Amino acid sequence: MISELTIEQIKSRLDIVDVVGDFVKLKKRGTSYLGLCPFHNEKTPSFTVSPAKEIYKCFGCGKSGNAISFLMEHEKYSYAEALKWLAGRYNIEVEETEVSPATRALQQTADSLYIINNFAQHYFSDLLLRSEEGQDIGLSYLKERGFDVSVIEKFQIGYCSSQRDAFAKAALAAQYNAEYLQKTGLVVMRDEQLVDNYRGRIIFPIHNQTGKIMGFGARIIGKNDRAPKYINTPENEIYIKSKILYGSYFARQAIDKADECLLVEGYTDVISLHQAGIENVVASGGTSLTPDQLRLIKKYTHNLTIIYDGDAAGVKAALRGLDLALEEGLEVKLVLLPDSEDPDSYVHKTGREAFRQFIADNKKDIVLFQLEVSLKDAGNDSGKKAAVVNRIAETISKLNKAEDFTKQQDYIRQCAGLLKIDEAGLNNLVNKHIRERVLKQENKMASEDIRSAAEHEVPEAAVGVEDGIALLNKDELIERNMVRALIEFGGYVWDEKRKVADYVFDEFETNDLYELIDDKQMLWLIETYRSWMKEGKEPTPQLFLYHPDMQLSAIAVGLMDTRYELSLNWKDHYDGPLLTREDRYKEEVSSTLIYLKLRKIKRLIEENQRDLEHTKSPEEQLTLMQTHLHFKQLEKALTTEYETVIFKM
Ligand code: UTP
Ligand code: MN
Repeated sequence: MISELTIEQIKSRLDIVDVVGDFVKLKKRGTSYLGLCPFHNEKTPSFTVSPAKEIYKCFGCGKSGNAISFLMEHEKYSYAEALKWLAGRYNIEVEETEVSPATRALQQTADSLYIINNFAQHYFSDLLLRSEEGQDIGLSYLKERGFDVSVIEKFQIGYCSSQRDAFAKAALAAQYNAEYLQKTGLVVMRDEQLVDNYRGRIIFPIHNQTGKIMGFGARIIGKNDRAPKYINTPENEIYIKSKILYGSYFARQAIDKADECLLVEGYTDVISLHQAGIENVVASGGTSLTPDQLRLIKKYTHNLTIIYDGDAAGVKAALRGLDLALEEGLEVKLVLLPDSEDPDSYVHKTGREAFRQFIADNKKDIVLFQLEVSLKDAGNDSGKKAAVVNRIAETISKLNKAEDFTKQQDYIRQCAGLLKIDEAGLNNLVNKHIRERVLKQENKMASEDIRSAAEHEVPEAAVGVEDGIALLNKDELIERNMVRALIEFGGYVWDEKRKVADYVFDEFETNDLYELIDDKQMLWLIETYRSWMKEGKEPTPQLFLYHPDMQLSAIAVGLMDTRYELSLNWKDHYDGPLLTREDRYKEEVSSTLIYLKLRKIKRLIEENQRDLEHTKSPEEQLTLMQTHLHFKQLEKALTTEYETVIFKM
C-alpha cells in the first residue's frame, strides 16, 4: 500500500491543469480552462477544468471528477496506479507502508503462482513448436483447425506431453515448490508422486489485464467421451473464475477503438476472430456473465454484443445475466449464428468481411429479443402470457437511472406494441417494480448498510450530475445544500464555544439525523464526516474530493460542483452589496437545518393525523389531539424562526 504521507505529498503537489493538460489541449478562459472533451466526440469545447476547485467537468457528456479520477477514467488506471503515475510525474518518491502479514503472504503466494505459470507457458509453447511430439500431435491438430503459427504465438498456446510427469519433473528440477505447483493445478499428487494434470492436451494460457498468466485451459485433442473436453485451473490466489474474461488483454485497445465489445463463448472463438482481424472480442468461458466481468467490460465500452450459437442452450445462456447487464447501464445486443455454427467455425467459413457484415445485419436488441422468445414460448396460454408481461416489466424496471429514462420509455412503447397491451398499463407495472425494489432496499437499510446503498445510487463518476440535479425536488436540494454547507463551512466559527460542525452534529443528535435526512448518499457523507471528527481529523472538502473510495469522492464532486442555491430569492429582500455564500454561511446552515426540522414536524403531524383517523378509543383520540397541538406549536415556532433567517439573508 502507498503510505498516507506519500498520498498527502502527491495531493499537495498535483495541479489538475497539468495533469489533464497532459492528455487534453486546454485554453485559459477566465478562471478556468476549456478544451475538447476526451470522453465523448465533440467539435466545440465543453470540457472545463477548474484549478480552484480542483475538478473537471464536461457540460456535454456530464463527466466530472478530480485529477485522480481523471487518470482512472482516461487511462483506465486503478487508484494505486493513478497515484503512482502522479508520483512519477512530480518526482515524488513512493513510500509503501507495511502490509499486514496476511496480505504479504497472499502477495507472495500470488507472485510465486505467476512465476510458475510463466515458466509453464514457456515450457508448453516450446514443446508445441519445437518437440517432435508437440509438432506431430499438438501443432498438426491446431493447423488442421486452421490456426496460423503467428496467432498461436500471440496467444502463447502450448502443448503438454502425454508422458506421465514430464512437466512435473522439469518444474521440480528448476526448483519450483511442490505445494505451489499443485496450487496452479498444473500437477497433481498421485501415489505420493507429482504427475502432470494436462497430459496430451493443448494448453491455452489465460492472461490478466497486464498480460500476466493467471491460469490455463487445457483442451483434449480429438474426441474422448470419458475425459472432460477442457480441464481448467482450479480457483487459487490469482485464478478467480468470476473475474476472468478470456482475451481481454489482447482486446483492450480494439474494444476502445470500436467502442464495442463482442462476447463469445470459447477460447477458440476468440483466437479465430483475432486471426481474421476482428480483435474486439472476449470470451465468458461458457457461463453467464458475472458482475465483475460486466464491470471489466464497462471500463472500455458501454456496447456489448453477444454472439452465440443459434441453438436453444446458446439463447438461454445469452439471456441469463441480462438484467444485470442492464443494471450496469450496458447497451446489450445479440447476434445468433446460423444453426450449428460457432464464431470459430463461421468466421473460417465466411472470412472477415462477411462475418462483420453478418454481425451488423443481425444485431437484435436483447430486451425485445427476450420478449419475442418468451412470447413464442407462451403461445396462447394466457397465464403464461401474464407472466411474460410481468417478467418484461421487471427487466425494463432495471433501467431506472435518470440517464436511461428515455430508453426505458422507448422499451415500454415497443414492448406494449409487441404484447398488444395498453402502454400506460405496462408503464404502471414497470413503476411498481421500481417501487418494490426501492422499498426492499429501504427496509434492509440499517445504518451500516448505508454505504452500499449509497453506492448503488451513485451515478457512475457523477455522470450527468447537472441533469440529475434538474430532477431533484426542493427537499432533496435542501438536504444536499445542508451537507454541502457542512463540508464547506464545518470548520468555521459558529459561536464562542463551537464550530459549525459541532453545532450541526448537536442538532443532528437532538433531532435524530435519520429523521432529518433521507438521501442515503448524503447520510454516507455525514457519517464519514462524523468519523473523521472522532479521529480528530479536520474534514476538509479536499479530504472528500480526494477520498480513496471513488464512489464517495464521486458523490462529493457532484455535490460541490452543483450550482444550486436555496430557491428563495433573497435578493428581493436585500439591497446592500451582494454577499457571497461565504459571508452568509451561518444563515445557510440555519435555514437549511430549520427547513429540514420543519419537514420532520410536518411528517409527524401527518402521521398523527392518520392515527387519529384510525382510532375509535376516546382516550387515545384525546392524547393524539394533544400531540397534534404540541406539534402545531413547534411548527409555528420553526416557521417564524425560518422566516427570520430568510429575511436576514
Ligand atoms: P466449447 O465447447 O464451445 O469449446 O465451450 P470451444 O472453446 O469452442 O472449443 P472447440 O472449438 O470445441 O475446440 C466454450 C467454453 O466453455 C468452457 C471453455 O472455456 C470453452 O472455451 N468449457 C467447455 C469448459 O470450461 N469445460 C468444458 O469441458 C467445456
Ligand atoms: Mn468451438
